[in-house]
Amino acid sequence: MNVAHAEFVVSNTKAESCPKTKMPEYAFIGRSNVGKSSLINMLCNKKKLAKTSSRPGKTQLINHFLINKQWYLVDLPGYGYARASKTKKKTFQKFVVDYFIKRKELVSAFLLIDIRHEPQPIDLDFLRWLGENFIPFSIVFTKADKIKEKEIETKINNYLGVLKADWESLPHHFVTSSEKRLGREPLLNYIQQINQKIEKH
Ligand code: GTP
Ligand code: MG
Repeated sequence: MNVAHAEFVVSNTKAESCPKTKMPEYAFIGRSNVGKSSLINMLCNKKKLAKTSSRPGKTQLINHFLINKQWYLVDLPGYGYARASKTKKKTFQKFVVDYFIKRKELVSAFLLIDIRHEPQPIDLDFLRWLGENFIPFSIVFTKADKIKEKEIETKINNYLGVLKADWESLPHHFVTSSEKRLGREPLLNYIQQINQKIEKH
């Protein structure tokens, strides 16, 4: 899919205040610093569309980006930021959880995982929570440029092996690097296929 147009629309902390346009949307979630905002920029070919930082905790709000005037990418705050205050962690949980539960336009979530790391309880718990709440998701492994190419498959098989303990069928997964622009086409094509299915209904 060609991303001809990508624009920032609105930021907020309330599912009720998200755009009322009824277009399909796809949300990026995962630990702080995993590369959610960078991936959105890479997909959109716009370096500064979503704000990124080498310090975790950069994205603090629910951010809607309108793509080709037809669908949204949603950048969310990350979880697991150890230095965030308790109050902030609680606010995060509440409004992000609220967003996932209430937002009817959310077609699918992308749960981002840093490919270098072993499976972490915080991500496995969040995946379980998505499943329990019937929220469709795929897994996106990020920062693939940080490991050797031949290690990629081993890392992924290891991760999926751990997921098998929890899940009857394994989710769709993608391997990406925003740095090297890896995984862009498969991810955009996947979104396009879903969008086309929705249009036909
Ligand atoms: P929060 O908004 O804090 O939750 O973080 P985030 O998940 O949006 O991460 P962000 O996109 O801001 O990226 C965090 C850091 O990782 C930045 O320094 C990015 O440049 C770096 N980064 C993101 N993606 C990649 C990647 O594919 N490869 C490499 N090498 N670095 C990356
Ligand atoms: Mg971010």
